[in-house]
Amino acid sequence: MFPLIKEILTLSPPQDLVIRGWVRTKRDMKNLVFAEINDGSCFSSIQCTFDGIFVPPGLSTGSAVEITGRLIPSPAPGQAVEIAASSIQLIGEALGEEKNGIPPYPLQKKRHSLEFLREMPHLRGRTNTLAAVMRVRSKLSYAVHRFFQDRGYHYLHTPVITGNDAEGAGSMFRVTALDPAGLPKKKEDFYAGDFFGRETFLTVSGQLEAETYAAALSRVYTFGPTFRAENSNTARHLAEFWMIEPETAFFRLPENMALAEDFLKFCFTEILDECAEDMAFFDERIEKGLIKTIRLVAESDFVHLRYTDAIAELEKAQNSRPFEFKPHWGCDLQSEHEKFLAEEFIKGPVIVTDYPKEIKAFYMKQNNDGKTVRAMDVLVPRLGEIIGGSEREENLSALERRMVELGMDTKRYNWYLDLRRYGAVPHSGFGLGFERLVQYVTGMANIRDVIPYPRAAGQLY
Ligand code: 4AD
Ligand code: MG
Repeated sequence: MFPLIKEILTLSPPQDLVIRGWVRTKRDMKNLVFAEINDGSCFSSIQCTFDGIFVPPGLSTGSAVEITGRLIPSPAPGQAVEIAASSIQLIGEALGEEKNGIPPYPLQKKRHSLEFLREMPHLRGRTNTLAAVMRVRSKLSYAVHRFFQDRGYHYLHTPVITGNDAEGAGSMFRVTALDPAGLPKKKEDFYAGDFFGRETFLTVSGQLEAETYAAALSRVYTFGPTFRAENSNTARHLAEFWMIEPETAFFRLPENMALAEDFLKFCFTEILDECAEDMAFFDERIEKGLIKTIRLVAESDFVHLRYTDAIAELEKAQNSRPFEFKPHWGCDLQSEHEKFLAEEFIKGPVIVTDYPKEIKAFYMKQNNDGKTVRAMDVLVPRLGEIIGGSEREENLSALERRMVELGMDTKRYNWYLDLRRYGAVPHSGFGLGFERLVQYVTGMANIRDVIPYPRAAGQLY
């Protein structure tokens, strides 16, 4: 394989070599042409100088090129080496002006807003910011697998098409193979005539299936796409996002909390070590002080706070700085409440536990007080909730009672209830929204800028 620019930048000059990539910028001096070539392998481009050789007119920003030359020490500041080119081949032209009906390459050298770039997800990967995000995203996925694999967890592929509402919260996308033209009038006929002969959806979570395999392999984790038809147009919600869900047999809530904390810290440390150049860019251009914050968080203990105590704090704070949504015991924590707790009260990550059962999913382990469940949400500054999880109700009658209370069709979940009938054990798990993790470590404000092709209500590019 030919070397990437990332590798070339570590070689010692002089050496003859060939590079391939895309032109970032070109400058014409009197007898000399300079071009910066980038291949996305790392943040840096490599400078090439063309001294007295033919430079084709199509060598402009966005063009793909192959350059043969010699790696030499660079006289310019800020770079150790550069390439003195001996020949250049234009592989794919990208013109700066309209020609033959093809509009000019849209990403000319100037700052483009992230909003503008969102309109062209197929090209934005060629910008510094988006390329850095996607490299960090890739390294983070690798870190996720390493963390769990090193701790005896098995990677489980849970289904994308499902008949269950795993969170019992509605907001699911329907899956159908029926043609909208000539649909049956009656609902029952609709499902009967459809592909699976029943109502089907895209999954909102792989948790229920992960629980079944945790009862077989002890430790499993899922890492796959999940779908939510929530109509919330916010900077931290997507309709299609990736979720990591570990599920551990014999774990109670405290062990589950410790796992979540270790996991986040491992990801933070890994990314600071593995993506130093990209992280330096985010620190300088996206969020000042980012590296220091992440390092600090990776080294300090997460604070634990019961929901009831969190509400007491929020009510106190309400006197001096009214929240849009007035906090009271029993309310779901709004984004403004979560941010207050993490940013102002704790000033760092905080794990809130023991929420009222009414605002949490049916499967959570019920506390003896009859009011709360063993839930845990990890809240971080800037984002609020990054992880949601719980200990699971393993007691058959307690779980059945709760499902009936919530009006769920227990027959449909017979397989899930079987776990409580045959060799039931305490078990716990959580879900980390992968894009929120990428947002947290890169400092990117909008979740649509940390996934290659964002899907949100009314937006599918
Ligand atoms: O809190 P949630 O809904 O929990 C579950 O789905 C559980 N089944 C997880 C488990 O215990 N195995 O979602 C988990 C996380 C949230 O904390 C958040 O980070 C992320 O998934 N998330 C979203 N990320 C982007 N866009 C959305 N619409 C999201 N909804 C949830
Ligand atoms: Mg949640």
